[in-house]
Amino acid sequence: MKVFTKIKDIQEFLSEQKRNGKTIGFVPTMGYLHEGHLSLVKKATAENDLTVMSIFVNPIQFGPNEDFERYPRDFDRDRKLAEDNGVDVLFHPSVEEMYPEESIVQMNVKKRKDVLCGRTRKGHFDGVVTVLTKLFHITMPDRAYFGLKDAQQFAIVQGFVADLNFPIDIIGVETVREEDGLAKSSRNTYLSAQERKEAPEIYQALLKGKKAVENGVDDPAEIVRLVSDHIRQNTGGEIDYVEVLSFPELDPLERIKGKVIIATAVQFASARLIDNVILDLSR
Ligand code: PAF
Repeated sequence: MKVFTKIKDIQEFLSEQKRNGKTIGFVPTMGYLHEGHLSLVKKATAENDLTVMSIFVNPIQFGPNEDFERYPRDFDRDRKLAEDNGVDVLFHPSVEEMYPEESIVQMNVKKRKDVLCGRTRKGHFDGVVTVLTKLFHITMPDRAYFGLKDAQQFAIVQGFVADLNFPIDIIGVETVREEDGLAKSSRNTYLSAQERKEAPEIYQALLKGKKAVENGVDDPAEIVRLVSDHIRQNTGGEIDYVEVLSFPELDPLERIKGKVIIATAVQFASARLIDNVILDLSR
């Protein structure tokens, strides 16, 4: 596995690979890799000649009161995991390399952002699309892989790549879960023992909502009530949101139909967890 920290060096290397006809699958991450990331790598290695991963904790997508400083980092462990799982090229730039001076342009997401996590994480998705634009130019991928746990991120990335005509296929990959159903996340390491015990109830609540929809309940408010009640009754976490929206447009619905997402964020004392289920009623 080749490791690069400088933009110029990785661009030179990957340009040469592209000239030789190699396809590139890109897995952008903020590190502290878990099985969720490795499932993206698995798909990327199956579908491309070269798998490129970035590990960069992107400061501009964190709000002033969020966990940028505290975000877990362990590059030596990540490097080994990446290599053992078939990553060919690892890009691990410093903040100074990515943002050497204040940018002269600013990217603003206009749609799909004032719901779910975007409602409280002001500017978060502007930071995400900015860093992805840079990373896409740096790594020149044919395909880029994103976990569907961050469904709003996936919906926004798909939309902005189509808007700006990046010649990249954006591939969504199913959420990887612990045996008890908890969605894998780097932030799970923050949970206390009691919170970790309660956290799988978030997925149980979403499954309850999904089942009700499949059984014909088409009132979004009723599903929100069902899911919220389950979370309140079975966890000490505070609900940030439970929403039922069209997917990937993320528009509110009067009646549940077509492709929809039921999504939630729950704030525990030590971590904020998100999860969702996506259903396609048109099939
Ligand atoms: O999902 C993440 O880890 C980040 O938002 C991403 C896509 C790597 C951009 O910093």
